[in-house]
Amino acid sequence: MSPIEITRRALLEGTAATAMITALPDHGASAQQTPTGGAGESELMVRLQINGKTHSLDLDIRSTLVDTLRERLGLTGTKKGCDRGECGACTVHIEGRRVLACMTLAAAAEGKEITTIEGLADGDTLHPVQSAFIGHDAFQCGFCTSGQIMSAVACIREGHAGTEADIREFMSGNLCRCSAYPQIVAAVKSAAQIQGI
Ligand code: FES
Ligand code: FES
Repeated sequence: MSPIEITRRALLEGTAATAMITALPDHGASAQQTPTGGAGESELMVRLQINGKTHSLDLDIRSTLVDTLRERLGLTGTKKGCDRGECGACTVHIEGRRVLACMTLAAAAEGKEITTIEGLADGDTLHPVQSAFIGHDAFQCGFCTSGQIMSAVACIREGHAGTEADIREFMSGNLCRCSAYPQIVAAVKSAAQIQGI
């Protein structure tokens, strides 16, 4: 039985709540599940594969991936902004695809390869997108930056970074309160060129 099935059944039986799986358009991260409240007390032992390491955790089945990363595993590079799927600050990769960690139940990610901002660099060598963001001053306060970078890595890999218009469209799920958009677009464009994509 898959983690998604376990979670949906537990939510339905235990709380009479519903679980929803929603796919967003390709230009943004996907929202995989939305717990809808209730007083369920069920815990689940979940094995998460994050940045190449396996973590075994007892989790409340309603735990989101962003809370699990930050509060249980100390991976605070992934930010929590709106906590409702609107800002993109919590963007991580699951199986190479960008997802919103605030809208994903941790249990639903069991058995899948999760990559966070902490897993992008190769030792002391930054990922080309990280280097491009630094080189282009593509941040001010930096709160949105890890989500922007994770989204940009996927955007480039998807082949959606050929033009500035494409970059703006396919990065539109990541908001920046500091309005560093011109520098972000320049960084993504530059990283795509450096990677020959
Ligand atoms: S914190 Fe997840 S989209 Fe804003
Ligand atoms: S750099 Fe401040 S929110 Fe983007």
